[in-house]
Amino acid sequence: MRNEALYQATIDILDLYLSSFKLEAAIKYWSNKNRFAGSSDRRHIRNITFDIIRQKHSCAFVGGGLSGRKLVMGYLILKDLDLSSVFTGLKFAPKEITKIERRFLIFSYETIKVYELDCPTWLVPIIKNSLSENFNNYLYLMRTRALVQLRINKHKTCRKNVLTLLRNEEIEVVPNKLISSGINVLNGAHKILRSSVFFDGLIEFQDVGSQLVSQMIEIEEGDQVLDLCAGSGGKTLAVASEANKVAYYSAWDEDLNRMDDLENRANRAGIKISKLLNKPVQNIYDKVIIDAPCSGSGSWRRNPQGKWDLSLDKLRLYIDIQKGLILDAFKLLKQGGQVIYITCSVLDIENEKLLEELILADGTFYKEKTLNLLPTYQNDGFFAAILKKI
Ligand SMILES: C[S@@+](CC[C@H](N)C(=O)[O-])C[C@H]1O[C@@H](n2cnc3c(N)ncnc32)[C@H](O)[C@@H]1O
Repeated sequence: MRNEALYQATIDILDLYLSSFKLEAAIKYWSNKNRFAGSSDRRHIRNITFDIIRQKHSCAFVGGGLSGRKLVMGYLILKDLDLSSVFTGLKFAPKEITKIERRFLIFSYETIKVYELDCPTWLVPIIKNSLSENFNNYLYLMRTRALVQLRINKHKTCRKNVLTLLRNEEIEVVPNKLISSGINVLNGAHKILRSSVFFDGLIEFQDVGSQLVSQMIEIEEGDQVLDLCAGSGGKTLAVASEANKVAYYSAWDEDLNRMDDLENRANRAGIKISKLLNKPVQNIYDKVIIDAPCSGSGSWRRNPQGKWDLSLDKLRLYIDIQKGLILDAFKLLKQGGQVIYITCSVLDIENEKLLEELILADGTFYKEKTLNLLPTYQNDGFFAAILKKI
């Protein structure tokens, strides 16, 4: 597809999204209706669409409103690209920009003020409070694409070997500097799912922030480990891949469907995880991992729709769930056990402040260790705390 046609496709998808489709559903709907588009076109359209959703309000501001066309106009202005070469009015291209549309375009703006628009207004004071001098950098990062990152499975291989195998498949990869299990993919990520390196369980897709918090968990010989919010098991797989002691892993998620992929991933990795079919109630665990549902504010680069969907009511609900999960987790511990509380949030009301409040109100546990990872070019934002019963 020509460049202008890619932008017309993006406009169509954005209009679906704005008419209340979920972002993924809008992309899927468009793809089903336009089967002529090749895989590289689809990747391109997806990338531009995600870029625009990350910057939805700044694009709308400089583009003169909230519609697919105006968002694309705003996106091109913010990228300092030529609008007339996209809005040509030729076949498959967006129609030419009208006089009225042109009147509402903004070409000169104050960058940082415009960036701030891409954080939901009601959330700005809450995030500023949590991040203080790091706020502007956070705003900048959340408007950019996150790196595709991999975790090597140390049970099966070493990083050097994986780098060689991936490079042999013409996938451009470099070692991540923050962690020995991490790899940054610079080009060719779409080939990974079809590669033998993936099928043989030598790697998993996982952000480096997630790997760093998992590495905080030190497994002892014979440990019973429960992943209480397991989803498809990302954290437990990372913990088990690092551990050099024998331990027993169990997984539970309130939404059983979210564990659908867990067995496949565990089998590929050569790691045994027992999927629980009933809510755990016995106090038999040495470690309970809570990878809690949260605002996701540390990883909005990967899920840009998440920041626009969050509301104060939803945030309050997450906080209630987080507190409940921590108190429940303590009931599942053996004497001397640990709860590992994790969020991919940068909001202190889901992290440090939540724990301080709970410790004050409950008084039966304390923080042994915490890790507060701000998002950077190399990692998503994560918080983790190791909690112990008094
Ligand atoms: C952040 S995701 C977990 C991601 C997963 N650990 C991973 O690394 O891929 C949070 C999960 O918590 C689950 N959840 C929400 N409330 C829960 C509850 N009360 N008990 C157990 N799981 C819950 C959600 O279904 C969701 O799968």
